[in-house]
Amino acid sequence: MSGCSGHAVVSEGMPSVVPVPESIVPGDGHVAISHEMNVFIMSDAEGIDYAVGELARLARRIFGDRLDISCSRVSAPDSDDLSMVLPESAGKERCRLMFAVDPSLSPSSYRLEIAPDGIGIYGGDAAGCFYAVQTLRQIVPAEAYSGKRISYVDLPVMTVFDGPDMQYRGLMLDVARHFFTVDEVKEVLDIMAMHKLNIFHWHLTDDQGWRIEIDRYPELTRIGSVRKRTIIGKDPGGEYDETTMYDETPHGGYYTKDQIREIVAYAAARFITVIPEVEFPGHAVAALASYPWLSCTGEQYEVRQTWDIDDRVFCIGKESTFGFMEDVLSEVMELFPSEYIHIGGDECPDKMWMSCPDCRRRIQEENLPSFRALQGYGVARLGAFLESHGRHLIGWDEILEAGVTPMSVVMSWRGAEGGIRAANQGNRVIMCPTEYCYFDYYQSEDIENEPLAWGGLITLDKAYSFDPYAGLDSDVSSNILGVQANLWTEYISDIEGVEYMLLPRLAALAETGWSTGRKDWADFRQRMSSLVNLYDIYGLSYADYAQNED
Ligand code: ACM
Ligand code: ZN
Repeated sequence: MSGCSGHAVVSEGMPSVVPVPESIVPGDGHVAISHEMNVFIMSDAEGIDYAVGELARLARRIFGDRLDISCSRVSAPDSDDLSMVLPESAGKERCRLMFAVDPSLSPSSYRLEIAPDGIGIYGGDAAGCFYAVQTLRQIVPAEAYSGKRISYVDLPVMTVFDGPDMQYRGLMLDVARHFFTVDEVKEVLDIMAMHKLNIFHWHLTDDQGWRIEIDRYPELTRIGSVRKRTIIGKDPGGEYDETTMYDETPHGGYYTKDQIREIVAYAAARFITVIPEVEFPGHAVAALASYPWLSCTGEQYEVRQTWDIDDRVFCIGKESTFGFMEDVLSEVMELFPSEYIHIGGDECPDKMWMSCPDCRRRIQEENLPSFRALQGYGVARLGAFLESHGRHLIGWDEILEAGVTPMSVVMSWRGAEGGIRAANQGNRVIMCPTEYCYFDYYQSEDIENEPLAWGGLITLDKAYSFDPYAGLDSDVSSNILGVQANLWTEYISDIEGVEYMLLPRLAALAETGWSTGRKDWADFRQRMSSLVNLYDIYGLSYADYAQNED
């Protein structure tokens, strides 16, 4: 390859890739990725341009202003053989890359051919091509990102085949306890893309803040998005009293509809679906503070300033509560094209319902066996409403206690038991048990030297040891849609804190979701070096991953 003068970076040996690919087949020789590159695009698949753009952004990171990239569309060959069929004149003196969709590959899968005459990126669809570029990002040696004036990166010839084991590879971010800006949410989406995750579960409402603009109910954001102060540190006695320490700075923020559309589009470009969560019937104080008629008593509450479970929940007896929720969900569905809408359902005490005449009447009229069953009644109504709009409900595993509709998806967080029960009865399940997936827990036993966390301990090896199929009969394992990491933010108030709590445990979760059957802890620890290099290159903060012993 000519035109390659100046500093070169040469890579030897097999690369380290996380999540581990299905196979990496070594070949003979090397190919140079030069700062002068021709990219040929042999596909019109939706999203392919963004995958190509991702390659261009990667190349710019390496070559900076020296990058001279030319992209052109070429037509597909008549035969099935897609391998590097480029016109003779296709810039042989420059480095050549080709993007194509190969129908023999499944969706999101890819074949990355690093061949002597160029690089072929073949995806089952555009998402597959995008994931191939993420793999290439890890194959390029760290030295190439040093910012020195390099002319080319020499890579060993190889073919990588890969594809995800699980269709749902999620991350939940709580923006209610602490608000994160649009740019910060985008950064989280970039981190997800780097780890080949594809579902962003956005926890938008809770006792301590309502974060989504709803036209019909402006008080939700005018009043519900701001709490006037916030508890700091841990409450020493387990109860909040005059000794509890507060940060007296009001905390608030919400996303306008335009900002939400911007984030949904930003995620979609990265092949990430955003699933919104609007909490019902518990974790509702910010909504009740905005519209007191939503509660059992009609009292005027304040947006909550402390953490944990609150007795003040939506009234299930009043019809107006359902009018409100259906209006809110209608606006939510307009903003989010996702198949699933999350309605929360966790940690809902029934204390208020017991002394509410409307709730008591509802029990009688509907012949419900208990106050607890009011939750099932409410969730079933919202599930039917979502179904009538072609969507499906997701709820935390408490929704099982009061009965769920067959199409509802159960998010198993209080261990795997709820998920197993749901899968056995034919419901689809997302596994995110606290024991392995709650990344708001400490990641080291040395908690003196860790930022304040909720409690619990999930070291990297613990996160890695998560088996989402444990305890399941094989005939129902197909009901497990996938896995998710959950990041609650009571004690995480800035984006560096988000990065630190996610990384590197998100890599363990990603490998569980993508390479479920190929996990090997010792091998993963070795391979993590390339991903950690990327964390450094992109300036991300992360916990010391070497501290976990075998
Ligand atoms: C939850 O952690 N309350 C779902
Ligand atoms: Zn009530």
